[in-house]
Amino acid sequence: MKDIIILGSTGSIGTQTLDVIREFSDQFRVKGLSAGRNISLLREQVRTYQPEFVCIQTESDYHLLKEEFPNTTLFFGSAGLNEIAQVTCDLLVVAIVGTTALKATEIGIKSGSPIGLACKEVLVTAGDIFMPLAKERNVPILPIDSEHAAIKQCLAGIGEDTKQISKLILTASGGPFFKTDPSLLHSITPEDALKHPNWDMGSKISIDSATLMNKGLEVIEAHHLFSVPYDQIDVVVHPTSIVHSMVEFTDGTLLAQMGSPDMRFPIQYALSYPKKWENPWPKTSLTSCGALEFFEPNITAFPLLKLAFDMGIQGGNAPAIMNAANESAVSLFLSKKIRFTDIHTTILSALERFPIQHNLSLDDLIHCDKEVKEKILYDYH
Ligand SMILES: NC(=O)c1ccc[n+]([C@@H]2O[C@H](COP(=O)([O-])OP(=O)(O)OC[C@H]3O[C@@H](n4cnc5c(N)ncnc54)[C@H](OP(=O)(O)O)[C@@H]3O)[C@@H](O)[C@H]2O)c1
Repeated sequence: MKDIIILGSTGSIGTQTLDVIREFSDQFRVKGLSAGRNISLLREQVRTYQPEFVCIQTESDYHLLKEEFPNTTLFFGSAGLNEIAQVTCDLLVVAIVGTTALKATEIGIKSGSPIGLACKEVLVTAGDIFMPLAKERNVPILPIDSEHAAIKQCLAGIGEDTKQISKLILTASGGPFFKTDPSLLHSITPEDALKHPNWDMGSKISIDSATLMNKGLEVIEAHHLFSVPYDQIDVVVHPTSIVHSMVEFTDGTLLAQMGSPDMRFPIQYALSYPKKWENPWPKTSLTSCGALEFFEPNITAFPLLKLAFDMGIQGGNAPAIMNAANESAVSLFLSKKIRFTDIHTTILSALERFPIQHNLSLDDLIHCDKEVKEKILYDYH
């Protein structure tokens, strides 16, 4: 039995991870769960999976849980998140949206727990720190993002020999506005932007998919995970999300990983890695999934993709500033304080105000992330 701890168990990735665990209940045991505000779902999960360790965001919810589950070790807040991440396990699934789990991820790596990484913001902000740390401690970082899980499977045959890679090709669905007239993008509402054509995801990643920032964050994530320079990473729009990503090798051939757009597949791969197990999820029908089409992304209408490439190349804290500003801008857009197209300008203005610095520590990056968010919040107070 493998012991699993899930940070973000009440979210889209967290609940689907529990679906996979339930399907393979003879292989996995839930050792720990952590949630933000959704105490009712967490309570249900604790009753079902009976984890030893549980963390919740607020102290008041912690006291409620303490009365109901006197035999469970309970934590709360960011200190609690760090404590639960310190508990060793066979896979620490990091599925909290945003940068909340930066410190917890570092603690998990230092404790030696393999990391199942859904949260791309963590690598975007501190990939230069986490990847060498994981390598030094011999801790695997297994991607849960479908594109990166696809690339990992395409690379399975070449091991560490990245010289055989000519290009990583990330596919993007294009989001709900792939075919929208760019002159109408300013009037898009959060309700429109939350309707993703292929995936049912949390609200932040849904907006990131609509702006193509999600793909930009994934480019930076891929750079760190696979040690491939930015000029060897491409993005193509593939509206049906059947091809999850591809690798072009130096001999000019391509490997693609395909399947239905269902996050349980990449989640299962991280859990069962490196094996593939039979499961009951619906299989892909090649004769009814439609044509496999690929298009160039429109970086004029969706400038955040190019910005992410540029900030990744700049390095240092540039991706951290961009990511923090994006998180704030997305939340302002969701609360209808700014327009869809203002997400870009909000990020650009943060990048102008905060100096790009290199060789920062994790604490410096956490401080930078907090400062950028506080500044933007203050501006729109
Ligand atoms: N959803 C997908 O299909 C998908 C695919 C690939 C990658 N990802 C990545 O996976 C991550 C999670 O995405 P998601 O779609 O699952 O997000 P989500 O549905 O919004 O869930 C986020 C999770 O984080 C928890 N959380 C939020 N703020 C917290 C805080 N301050 N302290 C502790 N916990 C907190 C939430 O708890 P409560 O709900 O209890 O408040 C919830 O469990 C993101 O980085 C995303 O980019 C997602």
